[in-house]
Amino acid sequence: MRPNDPETTSVFDEVSLCAAGFGLFLFSHLELRSNLNILDLGCGTGFPLFELAQVHGASCQVTGVDVWKQGVEPARLKGAISQCSNVRILEADAAQLPFEDTIFDLIVSNLGVNNFSDPDAVFAECFRIVLTTNLMGHMSEFYAIFHQVLLELQISAFLERLQVHEARRGTKEALSGRLQTAGFRLSKMREGRFHLRYLDGSAFFDHWLTKVGFLDDWRQIVDPEEEVRVFALLEARLNQMARASGELRLTVPMLYLEAEKSTVSSPNCVADIVGGKFADKKDQECPQPRRW
Ligand SMILES: C[S@@+](CC[C@H](N)C(=O)[O-])C[C@H]1O[C@@H](n2cnc3c(N)ncnc32)[C@H](O)[C@@H]1O
Repeated sequence: MRPNDPETTSVFDEVSLCAAGFGLFLFSHLELRSNLNILDLGCGTGFPLFELAQVHGASCQVTGVDVWKQGVEPARLKGAISQCSNVRILEADAAQLPFEDTIFDLIVSNLGVNNFSDPDAVFAECFRIVLTTNLMGHMSEFYAIFHQVLLELQISAFLERLQVHEARRGTKEALSGRLQTAGFRLSKMREGRFHLRYLDGSAFFDHWLTKVGFLDDWRQIVDPEEEVRVFALLEARLNQMARASGELRLTVPMLYLEAEKSTVSSPNCVADIVGGKFADKKDQECPQPRRW
């Protein structure tokens, strides 16, 4: 992999600022250890999969899983071209993982949980998990204007759909509860926030993250024959708000949760064994000498 090699640049894509914001939050709390078998759930086109593999180094193995076939393919290409030998990528559903029990030391999911249709089934599959997700309050400024526009147009059915859409966002209580229900013991919780900034509503709607990540869901809130009217007014109102305050600034709350398999029912269970394994392996040297 060289900076001016066309193959390299073809896969040197950018991570969205939003995913990067959560990624920074994740890595600022994640304890790095050696000799781990790591799983990245919902790895998309390879973030944070490759970052995890590289910051942990060759003594760790990192497996990325995603249901998104078109995302998994470029991730595999990235792995082949970058010759990242400690990464493997599988197309699979996080709710039905093709792995034996207890083989992962650490499970990470960056912005995955809010996208899983059955998060409880996913949690039930996991032994030790670290995750960040979209939370209640996500882009609250945008949703307040969306709400106001639907009130202004007096379309109550869409208002109800908007409320249902917003109610899908997680809360720290709900997510912690889900982990605990699945048998995990919470070991670390950190909250944070950052802001996505756009010149105005038009820039926001033109941004590829909005188009790829959000727009389809928002379209479901509105009947097709009303789509143009609603979104044109929404864009105009966001532009007004941006003119008044100099920019469109959307708050993104973040939650970092870390949990371990509960030791309550079985004193000699995996959490203790994993702890021992970390300690034993910590001082081992990297098994492969560097090749320049
Ligand atoms: C918002 S993206 C996050 C991608 C990446 N981790 C990042 O931080 O940019 C959510 C990912 O979860 C994946 N996903 C959704 N449901 C899934 C499931 N049941 N099993 C595995 N992956 C799933 C999607 O295909 C998508 O790649």
